[in-house]
Amino acid sequence: MTGGKASPAARRSANRTSDAGPAPQQSSVGKTLDRYAIIGNPVAHSKSPVIQEAFARATGQRMRYERLLAPLDGFVATVGKFAETNGLGLNVTIPFKLQAFALARERSPRAQAACACNTLAWRGDHWFGDNTDGAGLVLDLTRNLGEPIAGRKLLVLGAGGAARGVAGALLAERPLRLVIANRTHAKAIDLSAQFERDGPISAEPLASLSGQQFDIVVNATSVGLGMSVPAGLWPHRLFTAQALAYDLIYADQTTPFLHWARTEGAARTADGLGMLIEQAAESFYLWRGVRPDTDPVFRLLRAAGRD
Ligand code: ATR
Repeated sequence: MTGGKASPAARRSANRTSDAGPAPQQSSVGKTLDRYAIIGNPVAHSKSPVIQEAFARATGQRMRYERLLAPLDGFVATVGKFAETNGLGLNVTIPFKLQAFALARERSPRAQAACACNTLAWRGDHWFGDNTDGAGLVLDLTRNLGEPIAGRKLLVLGAGGAARGVAGALLAERPLRLVIANRTHAKAIDLSAQFERDGPISAEPLASLSGQQFDIVVNATSVGLGMSVPAGLWPHRLFTAQALAYDLIYADQTTPFLHWARTEGAARTADGLGMLIEQAAESFYLWRGVRPDTDPVFRLLRAAGRD
């Protein structure tokens, strides 16, 4: 089950949001090591343990970070058991982000906007749900890639969970325009309507993009690994002369979207490894109250991928 209906308890608290900042630094002196994990199905491939362990080492935090494979029908039970055994925080990946949202009794505004949680933090008697994906993308674009968002024309391809997770954070950076375009146009309209109070967002049919150019084009579709971009899926000449093409998917090889973008003349390309590391750092900060340096971890993982 990927969607998961909200439990009665979660439905009651559906509008309860919180700006609760990071937890105070946890101390593990004299007790069992604080436990954190990435929960998903599958989860064996996840780079999160390498990232979070590197953060913990670099910041001197005593904690343990594991992989937690939950049965497809056993997310809530697995999380419950984890909390009973000193589990203090979870990164949540496919297919459980909606179930994590339903489980969280308290949620950040950005989780509320994304309707999904990629991070859970235990608050003594309930889970606090957050979504750090959008912040991760914005940090990677602006800080690591030096790509301003303010005043620029942005295009997001796709209107599923990944697009919903980043739209609010992109709008908060005050782009000139944020266009959402998706194979199923109705979903782009829904997404755009949800965020219209947050900034200049609009939905456009893919065909109507012909003749328009964008400074940053983000692939938020699942057109990814092992699948080349189908001919004619996206219009030609979408990129301005200095444009950046950004794929939310990361891989050790050039992704199909970035390959397509290069043939279309994108000046710069980046995959989602930087976003993955930045969203992990945001989660780490929420849990431990300490902000880790992400550059060394990015270099480590990029180098490992080239081996
Ligand atoms: P995610 O959580 O990864 O965003 P999702 O919610 O299933 O997953 O959304 C997948 C996105 O990829 C959607 O925007 C989907 O387009 P549709 O809404 O038209 O289904 C898009 N997508 C998936 N396969 C695609 C393909 N072959 N061509 C174009 N878009 C595709």
